[in-house]
Amino acid sequence: MPNINMLLVLVSFLILSSACSTKPELPAPTELICEYQQNPLGIDQVHPQLSWKLPPSKNGLMQSAYEILVASSLENLDKNNGDIWSTGKVESDQSAFVDFDGNKLNSRQKYFWKIKYWDNHGGESVYSAAASWEMALLDNSDWKAQWITRTGAESTDDSLRSFNVRKDFNVESPIKKARLYVTGLGNYVFYINGGKVGKDILTPGWTHYPKRLQYQVYDITTMLSEGENAAGAMLGNAWWSGGLGWGKDPNSRKRYSYGPMKVIAQIEIEDEAGNIQTIISDDSWKWSESPITFNNLYDGVHYDARLEQDGWNESGFEDSSWESVAILSSESSALVAQQAPPLRQERELIAQSITKVPNGNYVFDFGQNMVGWGKLKVSGEAGTKIRLKFAELLHDDGTVAQENLRSAIAIDEYTLKGEGTEVWEPQFTYSGFRYVEVEGFPGEPTKDALTGIVFYSSAPWVGTFESSNELMNAIIKNITWGQRGNMHSVPTDCPQRDERLGWMGDAQTFGPTSCYNMDMTQFYEKWLYDITDSQDPSGYVYDVNPAIVVSGPSKPGWGDAVIIVPWVAYKFSGNERILRNNYEGMKAWVEFMRRHAVNNIYTWSNPDSTFFGYADWIAPVKSPQKPISASFLFYSSKLLSEIAAIIGNTVDATEYAKVAKDVAEAYQNKYFDKDVKNYDGETQTANLLPLAFGITPDELKPVVVDNILKAVAHREGHPSTGFLGTQFILPILSDYGHHDKAYEMINLKTYPSWGYMIEKGATTMWELWNSDTERPEGMNSRNHYALGGIGEWIYGYLAGIKPDAAHPGYKRSIIAPMPVGDLTWAKASQKTNYGDLSVDWKIEGATFTLNVQIPANTSSLVKIPKTMNITSITVDGMEIFSEGKSSGKVEAVNFLNESETSIGFEVGSGNYVFVAN
Ligand code: BGC
Repeated sequence: MPNINMLLVLVSFLILSSACSTKPELPAPTELICEYQQNPLGIDQVHPQLSWKLPPSKNGLMQSAYEILVASSLENLDKNNGDIWSTGKVESDQSAFVDFDGNKLNSRQKYFWKIKYWDNHGGESVYSAAASWEMALLDNSDWKAQWITRTGAESTDDSLRSFNVRKDFNVESPIKKARLYVTGLGNYVFYINGGKVGKDILTPGWTHYPKRLQYQVYDITTMLSEGENAAGAMLGNAWWSGGLGWGKDPNSRKRYSYGPMKVIAQIEIEDEAGNIQTIISDDSWKWSESPITFNNLYDGVHYDARLEQDGWNESGFEDSSWESVAILSSESSALVAQQAPPLRQERELIAQSITKVPNGNYVFDFGQNMVGWGKLKVSGEAGTKIRLKFAELLHDDGTVAQENLRSAIAIDEYTLKGEGTEVWEPQFTYSGFRYVEVEGFPGEPTKDALTGIVFYSSAPWVGTFESSNELMNAIIKNITWGQRGNMHSVPTDCPQRDERLGWMGDAQTFGPTSCYNMDMTQFYEKWLYDITDSQDPSGYVYDVNPAIVVSGPSKPGWGDAVIIVPWVAYKFSGNERILRNNYEGMKAWVEFMRRHAVNNIYTWSNPDSTFFGYADWIAPVKSPQKPISASFLFYSSKLLSEIAAIIGNTVDATEYAKVAKDVAEAYQNKYFDKDVKNYDGETQTANLLPLAFGITPDELKPVVVDNILKAVAHREGHPSTGFLGTQFILPILSDYGHHDKAYEMINLKTYPSWGYMIEKGATTMWELWNSDTERPEGMNSRNHYALGGIGEWIYGYLAGIKPDAAHPGYKRSIIAPMPVGDLTWAKASQKTNYGDLSVDWKIEGATFTLNVQIPANTSSLVKIPKTMNITSITVDGMEIFSEGKSSGKVEAVNFLNESETSIGFEVGSGNYVFVAN
């Protein structure tokens, strides 16, 4: 018989050891994200994606497994009862974009979730704090509300006059929670009890209306109270019915609809006992004309404050003079919950100066080419009319120059009601401007009379860059302002003239840079719906999306955005969904090109066969169009093959790899002149595209690089590229051993160069390298982001942060700074889905110091450049490399290899200081 003491020891050992092995000790994961947001409302994905972050860690922390619990109530979640989804322990290092795969999710229901993880050292974390998401209306039958409009507008209404709708209602019992489900065409501003609902601007945003309409979901619990309440909406035309395109006569612009502006709204109020009261838009609502007498996206808004009806959106308003609304049949397009980041105000700019110009007007200079609208603050006599004229440029006499807006009028008009200080924002338009000419202002305006409200689709900023070279910093700043200015529900070409359209070529070439600056995944996911929603049954896509104004098929380098943009978004985010969702659309585009290829050469052509596409648009030296066409069939097929492999379609992966190979061979035979050893046209772009895409065979690469160098030298070091070539010129020079030449090029201040624009006062990227000398009346925007595609090189080469497509979303990053010329330091950072990734390097004398921060659950390939003679490298003071080989080890840092240009290390999460001498 074992003695009792022994037994006690054994029992306490068992208790202790079991407690030790199960006691979670690692800190909880943080920042639980569902569908790109924290605790969102209005989710209509039936497999919402869940992400979380491991706490920052110094020791190469990786997740080895996770467990997710999703519960129908907080109580259940607290009891660890995942009654909706309980994954159990899943062996996986995935911590971003895990598709929910539990029980069927219900409309309106709120779900609670938490997560814990196991690490790579056998540790287990405590559970995260609870997070939640709430579903939107998943079924058409959830919508009880009806589309309403003003009477007389049911069939045709080409009016640019806005109107308001309203409704009083009584809330019967104390409110537990209340939601508003709403959308309107073209745009709406919704009010509850006099207050604007939500902070979003230009709702519901622009989609391919014939197929898809976004609605918004708002928590309005605190805006309502028991008893009398009122709801109201003001309606505008915007993209829907205002007309788009460059028709001189606004009526000749292309409209989605000559039908009416309309709104649909459903308010659901839950009381403490769980009873639901629903208020819907129906024939009990009333309408009246709004003080907005004219509204058009390009042309501006006219508002007569004397027509305001005080308290119209509050309860108790006397609305007997209002008419009953008309009911419209339901929309055939799908109603989907908001899919893109909403447009939101980011900042308010104060004018740098106000100048009185000869005509007596005042010109406000905001010092920055910005996009949004002006917020007016004024007091004066009733009937005083103020005109705000928006422009990017000035005439010599100081008045604003609107010639480059072409047919866009861009003038807001406000007529005072004459009651104290009047504050006004136009709501249904936006402009791209640096200057505003104010006409008719009573007295002399001060800076608070007009401020610049900057707004755009609010994708989160994720990138920073700074260096010892002021010109680089200025270029990045202009690039980011270009991006801010061209994200208005869709990526636009420009924000000021009569376009503001989702041009595909611009977007694909700026894609990587845009992803360095902002987390664009959600924005591009939504834009891809716009693209594929309008895809022709024959497989072609359109040049601008949502498709309007320009007829199909899309041109080479433009249509390929249907593949390039999701690919880039995937590379930067790691979200495979954007590839899966769009695979069929991508494939149809490649198949369309294939069907129109002759002997594997695709030539886009129009019926008269003299125009072969936009080619290397706006290049100072033109490159032949046909090879560009052919090269994009190669590039799209190659990417399609890689994408097919990623989503597990091995048959297609093989098929399209073969297509790409055949196209490359045909291309080489047709467009590479074996005698002169140069590509047709012999320009920078003619050589850049086949080399960058991977058409050029290895043995010819040195020759092609040489051709590029010659073409650069021929232009005294300047780029001669347009929209398609510019993105590649600096990366190719740097990749093939001519980083110094790339640096010389970006430091130029003579035409054509990025520095030239800045020398000439640009505060955003220009559309043309010579926007300053080109006649302003033509196609000449001062806020076009395409030539800013060079940001990728600044982040990825100078600072040295690169995503790795094989481990996307920076699951494994590449840190390979490339010091050059007079650059003594550079730093850059990226907010990744795993945490902050940063690089900060400097050169002092013969010492190169590199600070890196690698987020938990990721690793990095760190390449220390051999810019100088390196005999030893230390990490955090410990020597790890000397005399050509590994000489020690620091936790989570492993020597990998030495190449001609760098010394490589595999690095786990943590902050490290590498010092190389
Ligand atoms: C737009 C461009 C677009 C181009 C097509 C222009 O009018 O502004 O940015 O890509 O047309 O060539």
